[in-house]
Amino acid sequence: MPSVVVKAAAKVNLQLNVGSLGSDGYHQLVNVFQSLSLYDDVSVAPAERLRVVVHNNRASEEAASVPNDSSNLAARAAILLAAHTGRSPAVEIVIHKRIPVAGGMAGGSADAAAALVACDALWKTGLNQGELIELGAELGSDVPFMLMGGTAVGFGRGEILEPLSCDRRFHWVLVRAESGLSTAEVYRQHSRWRAGGSAELPPGPTDGLVRALIRGDPKELGAELKNDLEPTVFRLRPELDRLLHLGKGLGVAGAVVSGTGPTCAFLADSAAHAEETRRLLSKVVGERRVLIAHGPVPGVEMVGTR
Ligand code: C5P
Repeated sequence: MPSVVVKAAAKVNLQLNVGSLGSDGYHQLVNVFQSLSLYDDVSVAPAERLRVVVHNNRASEEAASVPNDSSNLAARAAILLAAHTGRSPAVEIVIHKRIPVAGGMAGGSADAAAALVACDALWKTGLNQGELIELGAELGSDVPFMLMGGTAVGFGRGEILEPLSCDRRFHWVLVRAESGLSTAEVYRQHSRWRAGGSAELPPGPTDGLVRALIRGDPKELGAELKNDLEPTVFRLRPELDRLLHLGKGLGVAGAVVSGTGPTCAFLADSAAHAEETRRLLSKVVGERRVLIAHGPVPGVEMVGTR
């Protein structure tokens, strides 16, 4: 029987406002996501029992930290969809990783979103996108956006989505770190260090951000990039503060830590400027750590059957 192959895009956060910690253990967010052309490939095929195989590409040395048992988020997605539709999750899931692991680009959530779509197709369960998004929210706060893709703002813990208009292409240069950061740990430290500080949330994305997305203007968008978690990420990884300053010194339109980090995202003026920025940043951190991508792109896309 053939396997179903899908690809799942990474994300960058354009505006991440972090409010107070709720009784459910999650922070209230205003979280603007954009999907980027950096993909994990995920295939699922019928098997005797649930099995996960992880292959690494660029992120190879981190591959060891991706679990290949039922704690893998893609495996949990298959288990959840199987339970929801009354069947056995007996599939082999093969993941080719390119999205940095524990990098603030939602690689695990992308794999979960991909597994939901792939298993839905393999099992012909025929769930609509709304139903998949509802299941995705049970797996992680970012999974609904990874299913939706494009550019969107997430409210609540990030799972209540409203799409944002963005027809133009933005060019990004990404610098991944040698080792990842745990999402839960970054939020925990953020709460601890912010104790007593203000946690008021804005009502939504800034007008400037919404305008910049519609106009497709990198300079305007660069000026609007914002991440409330940056002070916490910089306390955990002081070198990232220096890296962002260095990037800004190279004349990029904007620079920001993606989500809970440690990947840093640099917004270029054009594809050629992204190439030039990649070249310059590679000299500082090494070629291996620098990636190029554009956004927005669709979230999970069907590649076909094999
Ligand atoms: O939803 P997800 O599983 O990705 O979240 C991982 C952890 O990050 C949560 O258990 C929580 O500690 C933290 N988190 C948070 N507020 C959010 C999203 C995540 O505190 N909005």
